Amino acid sequence: MPTPARDLQQLARDHLWMHFTRMGGYAAADVPIIVRGDGCYLEDANGKRYLDALAGLFSVNIGYGYGEEIGRAALEQMRELPFYTNWSYAHPKAIELAAEVASLAPGDLNRVFFVSGGSEAVESAWKLARQYYAARGEKRPPSSRRYKAIARHIAYHGTTMGALSINGIPALRTPFEPLVPEVRHVRNTNRYHRPAGESEAEFTQLLLDDLEQAIVSMGPETVCLVHMEPVQNAGGCLTPPAGYWQGVRAVCDRYDILLSADEVITGFGRLGAWFGSERYDIRPDIITSAKGLSSSYGPIGAVIATDRVMEPFLDSTSMYAHGVTFGGHPVMCAIALKNIEIMKRERIVEHVRDTQDVFRAKLETLLDLDIVGDVRGTGFFYALELVKDKEKRETFDDDECESLLRGFLSNALFDAGLICRQDDRGDPVVQISPPLVAGEREMDEIVGILGEVLAEASRLMR
Ligand SMILES: Cc1ncc(COP(=O)(O)O)c(C=O)c1O
Repeated sequence: MPTPARDLQQLARDHLWMHFTRMGGYAAADVPIIVRGDGCYLEDANGKRYLDALAGLFSVNIGYGYGEEIGRAALEQMRELPFYTNWSYAHPKAIELAAEVASLAPGDLNRVFFVSGGSEAVESAWKLARQYYAARGEKRPPSSRRYKAIARHIAYHGTTMGALSINGIPALRTPFEPLVPEVRHVRNTNRYHRPAGESEAEFTQLLLDDLEQAIVSMGPETVCLVHMEPVQNAGGCLTPPAGYWQGVRAVCDRYDILLSADEVITGFGRLGAWFGSERYDIRPDIITSAKGLSSSYGPIGAVIATDRVMEPFLDSTSMYAHGVTFGGHPVMCAIALKNIEIMKRERIVEHVRDTQDVFRAKLETLLDLDIVGDVRGTGFFYALELVKDKEKRETFDDDECESLLRGFLSNALFDAGLICRQDDRGDPVVQISPPLVAGEREMDEIVGILGEVLAEASRLMR
């Protein structure tokens, strides 16, 4: 017998500590309790339906409708071998998934190290980069080894101490300082607030100069990793200007630094390619991935490295000195394999590629509203930047953001049956990242609800 909705409310308040949640906010309000999902839709404990324009957390790429099929794959694996470790042992599903991921990843990104999620993937990438140079034979005392990392302002890369240190969001970092040494944050690719006369090529050059200056001032021989998303989520779908990734690759090569593409969101189809690295020809040494690998039907992530990065670890006495119990969990691998099988069978990546322009065009109609300053993104990954004055591209101050985003928008959108995210870690944005199975009907519904609610927000803020 399922627990009745009223009891669930009480039990949630008494016992469940939710992530990144102002728990005090639920002293007088109901905890939203989601009980089931199908396709792009969710239903709460009161029977109300929502269009999930966030795909869980940018992650349920195939939507919510494949539980039976994926459940069968999980059950078969449970019967066969519910758990065994990847520490010195292999098992068929980890091997098959590693081979499958390697075949989808671009270039010679052929070596796959499994973890349980995105933060662990980022953590593992940094540790891998730290150990790589020593494994390659560079003999230096710890204090002068390559250990530093570079990421971008406002970027989100996870919450474990290493990944948190790579994060470029001050509000998430400061409560936990001192953090892991040593990360420098460079300019991100937000062009919306750049001077009107600046060309795209000038902007690219500014970003590359900033990156290079950071490396030089940190001491190039102490930097092991540059870690960036193909399209940065936090700050609102910051796409790269032309030539950016080729420039970043060249700077990393110049100083012999490993380049890591954080594809925790962009991997597995969100940008209309299996990986953003392919879409933008990034040629990273490492990819971090999670979320879409299993469409979040199971907690699994992966660090994907090139043959070159693994090469020094193939020596008979060498070892990447890192591991987690659940890395390559056979049931999670079976789930991820089935997810990829479904994505291929249903041609989901092709669907994103073929319909992304339609989606974008529909979202751009929202630019008619005073409050929508910019629509940016690509694939099924977009953000609307909200502005106080569109002419001047003036943003809202902190108090206005609080009343606009948390005071009005999040409730109004949820009440209207739309789940998306309002974020002011950079300038205020609404993030839209639906399951990759969304069709024109869902796109129209997203744009329809956003149009009504944002028009009301516009009136309120005036
Ligand atoms: C780009 C990026 N990297 C890393 C992470 C951390 O992943 P997880 O929440 O699975 O630890 C996230 C999570 O949203 C992410 O968006």
